[in-house]
Amino acid sequence: MLDLTPRRQDLDPIEIASRDEIAAMQLIRLQRTLRHVYDNVPHYWKKFDAAGVHPDDLGSLDDLAKFPFTTKADLRENYPFGMFAVPREQVVRVHASSGTTGKPTVVGYTLRDVDMWAEVVARSIRASGGRPGMKVHVSYGYGLFTGGLGAHYGAEWLGCTVIPVSGGMTERQVQLICDFAPDIIMVTPSYMLAILDEFRRQGIDPRECSMKVGIFGAEPWTNAMRQEIEQAFDMHAVDIYGLSEVIGPGVANECVETKDGLHIWEDHFYPEIIDPETGKVLPDGEKGELVFTSLTKEAMPIIRYRTRDLTRLLPGTARTMRRMEKVTGRSDDMMIVRGVNVFPTQIEEHILKVKGLAPHYQIVLTRAHRLDEMEVLVEAGIGGGTDREAAAADLGHRIKSGIGIAAKVTVAEPGGIERSQGKARRVIDKRPRD
Ligand code: DLL
Repeated sequence: MLDLTPRRQDLDPIEIASRDEIAAMQLIRLQRTLRHVYDNVPHYWKKFDAAGVHPDDLGSLDDLAKFPFTTKADLRENYPFGMFAVPREQVVRVHASSGTTGKPTVVGYTLRDVDMWAEVVARSIRASGGRPGMKVHVSYGYGLFTGGLGAHYGAEWLGCTVIPVSGGMTERQVQLICDFAPDIIMVTPSYMLAILDEFRRQGIDPRECSMKVGIFGAEPWTNAMRQEIEQAFDMHAVDIYGLSEVIGPGVANECVETKDGLHIWEDHFYPEIIDPETGKVLPDGEKGELVFTSLTKEAMPIIRYRTRDLTRLLPGTARTMRRMEKVTGRSDDMMIVRGVNVFPTQIEEHILKVKGLAPHYQIVLTRAHRLDEMEVLVEAGIGGGTDREAAAADLGHRIKSGIGIAAKVTVAEPGGIERSQGKARRVIDKRPRD
């Protein structure tokens, strides 16, 4: 594989600044952000007041631990625009991700936020081995999901030629890759494997393709998958992490020269690791739940957002900024199915809307032909009279149109689904771990 290590002079100076310089910048930005939300977002001043803290209480970075967390539930309560810290007219874009119910989590950006986002994604692409002038094929979905547009603006910012393909139509993806000869592909790792299979189906040698780098994220993936993709395509495979509530893709990225975890762009996003049970901050190196505070966002700054992603913080290597280990799991029950985030409660909501179904259900996840499949097993209501086939079709349709994924629905007899002794086991994930 090609050596694509970026030249030091091409990096943003802050990427290789001293820890002291980074911490000094973080403190000033954190103080400014706390004041900004306290002055402009009723949700935050009420929460800070209730916790007995004030932005002036932040004298050091460690003082952040005194401030309350923000969760998806807070965003839901302020749906759709209640978390904005600027007048709505200054918000140039909104995106959304899955909420735990039918209402999505909405996020907003000012023009400066969109630029900052493009800058961190450009930095991520450069860390992955990208350079101005390269062609970037984007297969992340375009729309409310942050993947497509996030990658797109970042690649443009770096000075690349963007090919905005979005997801789906695998045959056409392969054709465009062969015809346009991109240097880089940005896509979910599971969809990359489907693209690989399509190369083979068409009898095209993937090692002959033009792609030198793949930037994969939006779902967990393993080093075993990295090896498979790197060998199959003769390309570098690097990890990109992010979430809508914090900005989108580009919160952290691996460096192509080390591939040893993801450097967090700490000049914009301040990380903490907490014990998910107690909420206590854990020292670097210990595994727990990742929490982020934005340092430069204007439209929707976020304070101590509980990502629910499990990982640990490690010292910098290729950059001075700290690394997070590959995300290994979550502290809640969110599933990622073909790159789409889904909560069991979203499925439950739809079950409750179908006449003749009882809210006893299980979700079984499998992976066939490289792609995730979801089966919903649900019971018919007691009393009989349920047309099980019609109810299954109705539920399948609601899940497809409401959540956006095709699910196989099976309606069992009343009492046909195993009852739990305690906490219901809603999700049975049979997908291979690597
Ligand atoms: O998935 C943003 C993104 C798009 C990241 C494209 C990377 C590439 P959300 O839809 O809000 O945003 O989902 C965020 O996805 O909390 C993680 O659970 C998971 N996730 C994202 N990147 C990774 C990754 C986008 N590299 C949620 N490894 C996060 C593991 C990831 N999980």
